[in-house]
Amino acid sequence: MHHSSLIEKYLTQLRCVTSDQQTSVLDLACGSGRNGLYLIEHDIPVTFADIKAEALEQVKESLEGFSQSQQPLGQCWQVDFEQAHSTPLQGKTFAGVLVFRYLHRALFEQLKAAIAPGGMIIYETFTLQQAQFGRPKNPDFLLKPNELLEQFAQWEILHSFEGVVSSSNNNEAKQAIAQIVAIKPK
Ligand SMILES: C[S@@+](CC[C@H](N)C(=O)[O-])C[C@H]1O[C@@H](n2cnc3c(N)ncnc32)[C@H](O)[C@@H]1O
Repeated sequence: MHHSSLIEKYLTQLRCVTSDQQTSVLDLACGSGRNGLYLIEHDIPVTFADIKAEALEQVKESLEGFSQSQQPLGQCWQVDFEQAHSTPLQGKTFAGVLVFRYLHRALFEQLKAAIAPGGMIIYETFTLQQAQFGRPKNPDFLLKPNELLEQFAQWEILHSFEGVVSSSNNNEAKQAIAQIVAIKPK
């Protein structure tokens, strides 16, 4: 699957925050790594994190297709973000975090704390309206109205969207999504 156009639009800012902070961008619940790999292609360091070993194997295979200088920019981290009483992001700092098509509400506070001051969040996932179009249907995985805006209310909002869009790989299919791009206060 193709990377998100949001990543392309905010590439320059992502590059700035990673060089300011000297840390990587976390592609949280990365799956095949479509978004993080686009950053590697543009020489931005990325930590690819997912629970699934097979997903990370696929990321590693894709990394092998990059140049010798780009390959070390990608690090893989197998992790369960949903284990009760565990705080996998604690003590870690990233210049930015990308979250696409994943929601685990209990992670929000850890996630915000793991972004360096001046760093960036790019978050896109399904809203409650998605249940009328298809999966996911479980409200635990669907954002409530304004939920992302409320989570990042104290941050500088560069972009926010909530609504229905045509799916990027199938123009007939509709998806109800919310997006936010925001900078953490310094
Ligand atoms: C719908 S996919 C989205 C993948 C990618 N972000 C994208 O947009 O292409 C959701 C991903 O979340 C990962 N995931 C699910 N539960 C997880 C957990 N507890 N900890 C870490 N990753 C998890 C899955 O393995 C899967 O790769």
